[in-house]
Amino acid sequence: MSGVVRLSFSIEKPLYERLEKLIQDGRIANRSEFIRDMIRDRLVAQEWERNEEAVGTITLVFNHHTRGLTDRLTDIQHQHHHVVLASTHIHLDEHLCAEIVVVKGLAAEIQDLANELHQQKGVLHASLSGSSTGKHLA
Ligand code: NI
Repeated sequence: MSGVVRLSFSIEKPLYERLEKLIQDGRIANRSEFIRDMIRDRLVAQEWERNEEAVGTITLVFNHHTRGLTDRLTDIQHQHHHVVLASTHIHLDEHLCAEIVVVKGLAAEIQDLANELHQQKGVLHASLSGSSTGKHLA
């Protein structure tokens, strides 16, 4: 493990009080963990901005009665098979389905796939959760 650096920084008092409130409320473990999380969030955002290799999930909600939609969603995933690691289909009720697609690849390719899936007629909601391979976060 690499060495630990201690640092101090200055912030406005109202911001400090809000940070302390977040810690009191149990939403943040401690100040050090908060700073680590913020730095890693920024690094992951940078990986996506620079179109580096990334990991993510695409969640789709749709009505499977929409004509041809299930086949179209499967076809699109096959066209991007080099990015799709796995997908899970969940039957939410008699009509609605959720599909969670686990992806790994260049950030722009993942974004293109998410956009293409989202644009299919009958998709009620789509969201992309972008994360990282973790290689540069330690
Ligand atoms: Ni289903």
